[in-house]
Amino acid sequence: MTQRASACGKVILLGEHAVVYGTPAIAAGIERGAWAEVSLADVGPSTLEIGDRRAVADAQSEDDLARAFSALVGSDRAFSVRAHSELPPGGGLGSSAALAVSIARAIEMYTSAAPHERELRAAERALAWERVFHGNPSGIDMYAAANGGTFEFVRGRGGQPIEAGAELWLCIGLSGSGASTKTMVESVARQFQRRPELQARTLDGIGALVRNASLAIQVGDLVGLGRLMDLNQMMLAGLLLSTQPIEQLCTLARGAGALGAKLTGSGGGGSVIALVPAPGGSEDEGSDVAKAVLRAWKLAGFEGFVTRVGATGR
Ligand code: PMV
Repeated sequence: MTQRASACGKVILLGEHAVVYGTPAIAAGIERGAWAEVSLADVGPSTLEIGDRRAVADAQSEDDLARAFSALVGSDRAFSVRAHSELPPGGGLGSSAALAVSIARAIEMYTSAAPHERELRAAERALAWERVFHGNPSGIDMYAAANGGTFEFVRGRGGQPIEAGAELWLCIGLSGSGASTKTMVESVARQFQRRPELQARTLDGIGALVRNASLAIQVGDLVGLGRLMDLNQMMLAGLLLSTQPIEQLCTLARGAGALGAKLTGSGGGGSVIALVPAPGGSEDEGSDVAKAVLRAWKLAGFEGFVTRVGATGR
């Protein structure tokens, strides 16, 4: 018998990096995500197949994936896992967390625990996987992968859903290169150690943007939200997290009518989100502004897609 589970990808609307230090951040699930199919294996160790990548669970391995898989799967039983992510790895869209949560959920289906208990245990398994890749994860990716929706997140406290006053639609542009979250988080930590005043100023500033953005989302003030995203991008650029392709994606999006644009996730590469008006008619078709943003990106050689945020990924 095979068990199958899924989890959603995410975007951080505002507050990445500061969230590692306890400042609130706002994130949302997106429809694209990951799924896993798990079956019991006759003999161990457990094996994992993600596209053409293969790993065998091994806590001592030099391969991050083998160690992360080992931390997630444990050694009580042996499983054969096949997983797939629709999200670019290192793209800032929570691919790693979505994979971890979908694999952990499918494994927990082999236990007789109550559904609530299984979800808690799946979250623990997934966090063990994330620690291997991220070093010091705030947990925001895991929360989004497991719950989706639109939410405010505080490290150690989890997420609080935000009731959005208007549909939120984003164009997501891929900068073409990935970045290691661990490296980017460590780079910010070094800057904060060298300059404590930069840390205080950054966390205060981003905290204020997040508080205002939360209100803007609740009342459906998309113009206000877009401006706050632009300001957040300036602060992230000040922390050396932006790159030339990220800046180009943001400038092209704003020029095509987006209400605001910024990097999402760790930066140093990865993805850009551009806030666009909701489409008038059909659900899947973006608005004219969304189409103009995607066209501008394509002409400059960047891939992108439009999505409504707040998906739950189940
Ligand atoms: O892994 P990414 O690119 O989605 O970034 C995670 C967000 C950070 O705030 C940079 C790190 C964290 O653990 O919250």
